[in-house]
Amino acid sequence: MNKEKVSNHQEESSLERKWPWWPLLPLYPYGQRRTCFRELIPNQIWSLDQLQGLYYVAVPIRLTVVKVSGGLMLINPLPPTGELISAISSIEKKHGSVLTIVLPTASGLEHKISLPALSRSFPKAKLWICPGQWSFPIGLPLGWLGIPGNRTKVLVNDGFPHQDCCEWFSLGPLNIGLGRFQEISCFHKPSGSLLVTDALVGIESKPPELFNQDPVPLLFHAREKGNEPLQDSYQARKKGWARLVLFSLFLRPQKLDIPSVAEVFNNAFNPNLRTPQSHFGIYPFSWKLGWDESALKLLGRDKPLIQVPPVVERLIFPRAKEVFLEWLDLIASLRGLRWLISAHYSPLTEFSSRKARNLRRDIAKRSWANGEGDFSFLNGLDENLLRAGIVPENPLEGF
Ligand SMILES: [Fe+2]
Repeated sequence: MNKEKVSNHQEESSLERKWPWWPLLPLYPYGQRRTCFRELIPNQIWSLDQLQGLYYVAVPIRLTVVKVSGGLMLINPLPPTGELISAISSIEKKHGSVLTIVLPTASGLEHKISLPALSRSFPKAKLWICPGQWSFPIGLPLGWLGIPGNRTKVLVNDGFPHQDCCEWFSLGPLNIGLGRFQEISCFHKPSGSLLVTDALVGIESKPPELFNQDPVPLLFHAREKGNEPLQDSYQARKKGWARLVLFSLFLRPQKLDIPSVAEVFNNAFNPNLRTPQSHFGIYPFSWKLGWDESALKLLGRDKPLIQVPPVVERLIFPRAKEVFLEWLDLIASLRGLRWLISAHYSPLTEFSSRKARNLRRDIAKRSWANGEGDFSFLNGLDENLLRAGIVPENPLEGF
């Protein structure tokens, strides 16, 4: 490709990935969202993944396209960039139009922020949203949040869409103080797929495909100090990914220190690191020996490891283990369950009633949200919120 063609191609890619509403929730990669498109189950389920995070701590966030009678259903909205809309159009050509857009979570801001823009891209689609939507710092009516009332229904209260091929059931509601936590799971019977948002995820040691073209966030976090250059290798990518997983699941893992400001600045501004891409060498982290042992517990070696994300366990369900177990009982009773598809981390993980029963048994046996080791930061956060009266002691009361 000559220089002019390369530059045109880059301009086109940048337009195709543009997300102008990024200041509403200013997360990396801000106004440029690359989308990774995959057919997960032939002619049944497709995934569209983008990255989202803070300070290069980015993990995949996913919109799932599901084949339903007469067309398509989109679950968990994402910013409708040109790239994302072209991918959905390519599925529509073969499988019919988008009939339904589902926002199955009440609390996941990262999932609801793009619903208004996505709904404008599919003006004929019906919208189904989780009950108990709330906004912070002030509660606004749906219309003010840009959700069109004339074509929106509420899951549970108004029923459920596409019940000929989908079984729906709720996790929660729980009172989490600022609002409610609830997510509505969907079991797509023809493919045997359980679609969830945040409550259950599969994670593997291999970095997600989204980083293939731009591994900078992985390489940034694979270092020990800010004066080290970003060096690419598969090992560095895997190391960076393991650390991103620890950050995103525990917020502040136990084996992480925050160095003094003086130390951070002493290591910054090295000649080959004076670029915005490497944050000018500012790297306010220091990993202690043994950090990798914590990561190993979370990462499946050859296939994704199914788990409850620690942030969900310690901040949402610390006093509601039974509610979570009842939900797992429902999952274990699904006939023909074959796959878990969640809105973060690995797109497709093998699952079954037997595996759901085993997971339930393990969770029932082990201590839950105990606050030790890597959980200690989350533990402190929850205890402070509880002490300040922001979160209630009993999450089943106060609706
Ligand atoms: Fe989420």
